[in-house]
Amino acid sequence: MESEIIQRLIESGELPTPDRIKALLQVQQQDAVSIPIKKTKIVDKDSSVEVLTKDTYIGKKYVVKDFVDYFRNRYTFYKNLISNRPEFSTATSIGRLQQGDKATIIAAVFDIKRLPTGTIKLVLEDLTGQITAIISSKKDQEVLDKVKQLVPDEVMAFKGAVGKGVFFVDDLFWPDIPVKQRNLTKDEVYVAFSGDIHIGSKSFLPKDLDKFVSWLQGKRGNPRQRRIAAKTKYVAILGDVVDGVGIFPSQEKELDINDIYKQYDVAAKCLAEIPSDKHILVIPGNHDALRICEPQPVLYKDMAAPLYDLPNVIMLPNPSTVKLHKQDDFPGVDILMYHGYSFDSFVDSVEALRLAGGYDAADKLWEFLLKRRHLAPTYGATLALPIEQDPLLITNVPDIAASGHIHKSKIGMYRGVRTISGSCWQDKTAFQLRMGHNPTPGLVPMVNLKTGHAWQLKFK
Ligand SMILES: [Fe+2]
Ligand SMILES: [Fe+2]
Repeated sequence: MESEIIQRLIESGELPTPDRIKALLQVQQQDAVSIPIKKTKIVDKDSSVEVLTKDTYIGKKYVVKDFVDYFRNRYTFYKNLISNRPEFSTATSIGRLQQGDKATIIAAVFDIKRLPTGTIKLVLEDLTGQITAIISSKKDQEVLDKVKQLVPDEVMAFKGAVGKGVFFVDDLFWPDIPVKQRNLTKDEVYVAFSGDIHIGSKSFLPKDLDKFVSWLQGKRGNPRQRRIAAKTKYVAILGDVVDGVGIFPSQEKELDINDIYKQYDVAAKCLAEIPSDKHILVIPGNHDALRICEPQPVLYKDMAAPLYDLPNVIMLPNPSTVKLHKQDDFPGVDILMYHGYSFDSFVDSVEALRLAGGYDAADKLWEFLLKRRHLAPTYGATLALPIEQDPLLITNVPDIAASGHIHKSKIGMYRGVRTISGSCWQDKTAFQLRMGHNPTPGLVPMVNLKTGHAWQLKFK
């Protein structure tokens, strides 16, 4: 088992340090058992949380067939979604294309080549076969702008003309989300979006976190701010509760606490200070003590035991969707929580996202993902299990989509969906400096579920 881990680390370009091997060995042992979500529905007179995400992880050895089924199911989801729209109802398959036809196909992007002339050569694929597709550099700017954002494995509609063994693309269309009419509560109630606490790191900012917690306790702020604190019934923790141990080479130099159990112990002590009338929704992140392969299960009970002891904490997998504030006469507000590990890959590989602001523009990252109805449209952008019902697909459009990971708070809106990027409670690290991150610690995005209004609170 150890040699497999070393091999995997080398293949992924990581140094197989003893700490890293030990941490992964521990995670593998834990992974042998799937941990179910304990609380799936909590209702009291002022609040309600319903967990919509099913615990889909099965501890098993995945084989080639699992990958085949995974991509087939993913394709079928998109085909049904896109061909249900009137403008794409006549879409045909690659196997039925006839030379000279004008046609629409729904296909996965298998390969992208940008030729020196500016022309784009794609290989497109559906369940009936593959075809080479050409997008001329002389197309309208609007089409060329879309082409710049293409990523491998995404599935979308292509309109064009069929040549001899080639498809000349006129235009291309993402699956996208319909415009969302967000559900707004009758009560005045708020959600605070936090996370990336990184307990254990030397850069953890306990004083700032303490200011946030004492505001939630009603001990800080002006009368209006205290009233909002009292009406904040939900606190979303978007992963990276702790800094972890052996997450990256030489991490021990950056740790104050180098024992994972002690890190979760301190985390529980911090979260225990949050008043018990507030539901604390916790998803894991890549720094937490479990596999980074998504979906990440709920935090392991033996490592994070003190957190499980808190009555108002709801442990969730990453990603998760929860329905908040459902009442007899109100359908509830759906919140998609995703740590955001795939963001790194897309900021790195998609020039259009970098030009739009990269890590400083999480709203554009969310737009990119919502358009594709997937949290990691390129397989490998994040390590993902080939689970038949792809948990990274955005099958239902949420009211709010929230992420952490990049430590840069940003509020956005895309086709009616409120997008949130949380901040952190960790100062800028040397690693973030190298990666070009520009964190904004101590900010907490808030959403008023009655009005839809979102803004940031500052605890610096
Ligand atoms: Fe983080
Ligand atoms: Fe992270």
